[in-house]
Order: sequence, then structure tokens, then C-alpha cells
Amino acid sequence: MTVGIPIRRIWPTPATPPLNDAELTALYGRADRPHLRVNFVASLDGAVTLDGYSAGLSGGPDKRVFGLLRMLCDGLLVAAGTLRHEGYRAVRLSEPRRAWRRERGLPEYPTLVVVSGSLDLDPAQAAFADAPVRPVVLTHAGAAPPPGLTDVAELVRCGDERVDVAAGLAELRRRGLGQVLCEGGPHLFGALTAADLVDELCLTVAPLLAGAGPGRITAGDPGAPRELPLRHVLAADDGVLMLRHARDAAAPPPAGAAPPA
Ligand SMILES: NC(=O)c1ccc[n+]([C@@H]2O[C@H](COP(=O)([O-])OP(=O)(O)OC[C@H]3O[C@@H](n4cnc5c(N)ncnc54)[C@H](OP(=O)(O)O)[C@@H]3O)[C@@H](O)[C@H]2O)c1
Repeated sequence: MTVGIPIRRIWPTPATPPLNDAELTALYGRADRPHLRVNFVASLDGAVTLDGYSAGLSGGPDKRVFGLLRMLCDGLLVAAGTLRHEGYRAVRLSEPRRAWRRERGLPEYPTLVVVSGSLDLDPAQAAFADAPVRPVVLTHAGAAPPPGLTDVAELVRCGDERVDVAAGLAELRRRGLGQVLCEGGPHLFGALTAADLVDELCLTVAPLLAGAGPGRITAGDPGAPRELPLRHVLAADDGVLMLRHARDAAAPPPAGAAPPA
């Protein structure tokens, strides 16, 4: 089944017919080893937001892949800045996507993992209060939680005075969250890049010029450049490009991928 605006693969195999969800799922897949995938949307001129939010850059094709990537992960990693600013809600998946996960022995939902140094988090925010799986908050040894936070989330301390993202990722893997999808934001992406932890970047390029002002998809302290080879290019019929760059040649598609809704 093809949903909404058609998406086609244009590289390395050009001009394929529109991809259905099973084919899209297979193109992204789950890796056969611990894997950190990062997903962003940006404008042609590199803006990470439009009017302060990512929503203005995202359309149907981006949302479709965004949802499929959530279905594929064990842990959904997001920094506190993005969680607060974008008003993250509880992670939900449709019944066909939950069934897809059950069939592969996965929990019905991925675990939300929030990175916060300040623990300035609202336990009443739906991302915590309505979560189908108890979220994890990666923080550091010195951080004090606000009242109620430990009722709705598990605190995991990595680092003495700031969050050590490498130690945090290792701890997630120890807990069985091997396939991690990071949805940002730029400061977290910058920290993950600096620590050389990024295995894959899925980047949606929206066909518009945002103009000067907004930041890039990465932020923080400068670091060494990292090569990340191109693995596929998809194009939606509205002109949106979807790039997949990854260290390894391919994340093997899950066996017998069934079309999720
Ligand atoms: N276009 C897109 O795809 C996309 C995706 C995501 C976000 N965004 C946009 O990005 C903006 C927010 O991004 P941002 O860069 O300001 O913030 P961010 O990266 O989302 O969050 C930064 C926060 O992460 C926490 N953190 C703790 N330890 C960290 C560490 N070691 N490294 C990095 N972060 C750590 C801190 O939270 P505490 O303050 O709690 O200590 C810090 O303030 C929003 O405008 C959002 O709309 C766009």
C-alpha cells in the first residue's frame, strides 16, 4: 500500500515505482549490531527550524518515514531541549506497527530516552505522564530531580558533572536497547558527533529556502569532521529529498518485513 504523496528511490537504483511501507521499512531496516541512527529535517539552506519549530519543514513524506523509523527502534533518544520546546507527547504506534514489532519479538513500543543535565523536566508532560513504557532519563551524578519525576521515569546517571553520552549509549545497549533512534536536537547531535557515536544520519531536505536566522542541525563545540557515506536517496513527488548516510553499507532489512500501516 502506498500512502499519500508517492516516495521513490532515485539512487542507487533510479526511477523506481512508488515505495510501499514494507519496501520503505526494508530500505531502512534494523542493523545486526548496536546502531545509532539520527533523524533530522532541514531546509535547502540548512535551517533546522521554520518559525522556531521543525514542523514547518516537515510534510507527509517526512512524517511517514519518521513514523517508520520509530517503529524500527528499541530506544527513542531525544534531548531535553527538543522535548520541552516541541512539547513531546507519549510515543504511540498504530496497531499494525505494534503487531509488526510483536511478530519480531520486540516490545510493542520503543522506550523514550531523554537526555537532560538540569533535570528541568515536567513529570506532567505527556511524554512522561502518558508513556506506554516507563521512559529513561539520562543525566549526571549531580543532578537533582524535581518532585514527581522519578514516579514517571527512571533516572540513569552517566557522568559526574555533565551527561556522558558515550556512557549513556553503552548503558542503553546493556539494557537491550541496541537500535537507538535519535530525534535531536542539534546540541545532542553535536555531542554524539563529537564522541564519534553516530552510525547513520537520515536527513530530509525540504525544498525551500528558510533564509538567515535559524541554526543548523548540529550545535555545540566544534569537533573533527566525520565521513558518512551516502546509502540511498529517496524523492517524494512534492520535491522532498530523503537521504540516508551510514557508516556500514547496509542495515540488513528485518526478515519477512510485513507492510505496516
Ligand atoms: N529539524 C529537526 O529535525 C529538529 C529536530 C529536533 C529539534 N529541532 C529543533 O531544535 C531546537 C532545540 O535544539 P537545541 O539544540 O536547542 O537543544 P537539544 O539538543 O534538543 O537539547 C539540548 C539539551 O539537552 C540536554 N543535554 C544534556 N546533556 C547533554 C549533552 N551531553 N549534550 C547535549 N545535550 C545535552 C540539556 O538539557 P537540560 O537543559 O535539561 O540540561 C541541553 O540543554 C528546537 O528549536 C527544535 O524545534 C529540530
